[in-house]
Amino acid sequence: MIQMAPSILSADFSRLGEQVNLVEEAGAEVLHIDIMDGHFVPNLTFGPALVKSIRAQSQMRFDVHLMVNEPEKFIGDFAAAGADHITFHLETTPHVHRVIQQIKEHGMTAGVALNPSTPLDGLKYILEDLDMVLLMTVNPGFGGQKFITNVVPKIQVLHHHLTQTRSACQIEVDGGINLETAPVVGKAGAHILVAGAAVFSQPDPQQAVKDIRQAASL
Ligand code: DX5
Ligand code: ZN
Repeated sequence: MIQMAPSILSADFSRLGEQVNLVEEAGAEVLHIDIMDGHFVPNLTFGPALVKSIRAQSQMRFDVHLMVNEPEKFIGDFAAAGADHITFHLETTPHVHRVIQQIKEHGMTAGVALNPSTPLDGLKYILEDLDMVLLMTVNPGFGGQKFITNVVPKIQVLHHHLTQTRSACQIEVDGGINLETAPVVGKAGAHILVAGAAVFSQPDPQQAVKDIRQAASL
């Protein structure tokens, strides 16, 4: 079954706790938490303190998406704050294998993210070590952007490879996922759908979680 990962980037921060509870009650399995450093991406968000502040009130898997240079500096802090999973970008460090090991040593699962223009080739010697690959379907940095259709073949190729090799590694897609694009990524083979604006900018975020999941499974 397709898993839903609402992104709090588009939540109302003045009542973040309530918004987290809302999507959890709607059945979301994963909470997607976008960390931006103003260097790798042209925007700033939050840090481990925010993760810690919402950890106590949710059982969802906390999926931390690091859009930061030198990701190795922050793994321990997010682990201590209660992250279950960390994804970092292939483009942010020459020591990709080392960072994956570091994440696992802290008892978390590990993912690597690829920007829309980054080919799958860089995964070749690390795929067996990964729990998840995050394929960006927008350029990282902002919520509410338009889905980049050219990424769809990349999802298909990765899905085919994972099936052939009987890999348990999951494919997460992030950016511009909504009722129109969910069926496209669902068919292409995505396992986890991140959705920010299409959930939290809607009048009924709970219905949105259910509708997007259903649209992706058709
Ligand atoms: C973008 C972030 C996304 C963002 C997606 O850089 O990684 O997780 O929240 O937002 P939507 O779903 O609105 O495109
Ligand atoms: Zn994200």
